[in-house]
Amino acid sequence: MTVPAAPPRPTAVRPATGKLGVLTPGLGAVATTFIAGVLSVRGGRAQPIGSLTQMATIRLGRRSDRRSPLIRDFVPLASLDDLVFGAWDPIPDDALTAARKAGVLEARDIDPVADLLRAIVPMPAVFDSRYVTRIHGTNVKVGRNKRDLAEQLRQDIRTFKAAHGLDRCVMVWCGSTETYLKAGDVHATLAAFEQGMERGDDAIAPSMLYAWAALMEGVPFANGAPNLTVDLPCMLELARLKGVPVSGKDFKTGQTWMKTVIAPGLKARMLGLAGWYSTNILGNRDGEVLDDPASFKTKEESKLSVLHTILQPEMYPQLYKDFSHVVRINYYPPRGDNKEGWDSIDIVGWMGYPMQVKVNFLCRDSILAAPIVLDLALFSDFAARAGLAGMQEWLSFYYKSPMSQAGLQPEHDLFIQQTKLKNTLRHLMGEEQVTHLGLEYGA
Ligand SMILES: NC(=O)c1ccc[n+]([C@@H]2O[C@H](COP(=O)([O-])OP(=O)(O)OC[C@H]3O[C@@H](n4cnc5c(N)ncnc54)[C@H](O)[C@@H]3O)[C@@H](O)[C@H]2O)c1
Repeated sequence: MTVPAAPPRPTAVRPATGKLGVLTPGLGAVATTFIAGVLSVRGGRAQPIGSLTQMATIRLGRRSDRRSPLIRDFVPLASLDDLVFGAWDPIPDDALTAARKAGVLEARDIDPVADLLRAIVPMPAVFDSRYVTRIHGTNVKVGRNKRDLAEQLRQDIRTFKAAHGLDRCVMVWCGSTETYLKAGDVHATLAAFEQGMERGDDAIAPSMLYAWAALMEGVPFANGAPNLTVDLPCMLELARLKGVPVSGKDFKTGQTWMKTVIAPGLKARMLGLAGWYSTNILGNRDGEVLDDPASFKTKEESKLSVLHTILQPEMYPQLYKDFSHVVRINYYPPRGDNKEGWDSIDIVGWMGYPMQVKVNFLCRDSILAAPIVLDLALFSDFAARAGLAGMQEWLSFYYKSPMSQAGLQPEHDLFIQQTKLKNTLRHLMGEEQVTHLGLEYGA
């Protein structure tokens, strides 16, 4: 395979003028925590903790130059004041009711933004309970076929844009995890997919109709769930054709994020791995959806790939051949959104002596996911203005199961992902890459 050279830097990134619509299929725990958080930050009542676009700096030039601006001062990103929120959900609750039901945020954080949240009413969803068996919504579109439903979504996007006087939109999938599907012939080309929509092919899940509608409308799409959605040849074809960025899949939040921190550390020290057992208890609606084996299978695939790719057992058979990796998610209602995860990691050291690492992570799923939604919305919009189209590998940092070009391994190591993200920003803004070589400073 020949690897093409990096694309030339765009001459100019279009400025972030006007308002940006952030559309989320799904108005559940993650989406409402994201929206309420942005509204609170705007009102000066909260800090955007966990968001690189709001809090991280980026080093430019040599260390001795002492230039480390905030990313948001270096890159032209939409301002939080310019975001306008819209959503679809088969459950008709407005964002205030949904936020209260999700039980993530306390009343003291919801009440000050209650009126703004109440005004966000979900549009009728393209939904089919065969793909998410635990949800039975009433706020659902009807159409002649899948193509007609997708056309209705396109019309929603246009109406939303006009009603709010928006300059641009982005779409971030915050809907449920759908049942496990494999890519097939109907996803192989755009033409096959469009014919499949006409005849109502079962291999076309609702999330794919949102993605198709977004791309047709020139709206970047970021996929927060492990569903295939844009990780399909037909969608990449459409994204390139329309010049629209896409990224995915599955927000990297709790246990998998920890894995992508610890596993590179083990490998960096050439320590072996005999096994990694991960289990969780989780009681939110996402946990309930994942209680269905068909949805869990989609999630499991996404979670399992991480260690293998980071540790490269083919390259280091003495250290990583045949390690055991088990992932369990247990639906346990009393915990709500406050997941508890346990990892028991059996590692191997000098002369084969075994050791153990235990991680007990008491995290809050949606609190970890909300800043990711924000960053993906702002970076996807930036990517579009910078003229990037198709798969955005530099956004792998945010995903459990990053998309990668055919024939290439996805990059899972959080620190390589971070370097990739920051170097992409430097490249797009005409700054030198930071190599961390250091010899230029002298001995
Ligand atoms: N919170 C995390 O840490 C995290 C991490 C990775 C991925 N995710 C994924 O993010 C998604 C959202 O998580 P959540 O905790 O907000 O779940 P949630 O159940 O609270 O919200 C999901 C919402 O999506 C709606 N929905 C389902 N199908 C839809 C469709 N076709 N169109 C529009 N809306 C639809 C549901 O009715 C529900 O309100 C899930 O897929 C989850 O797996 C979450």
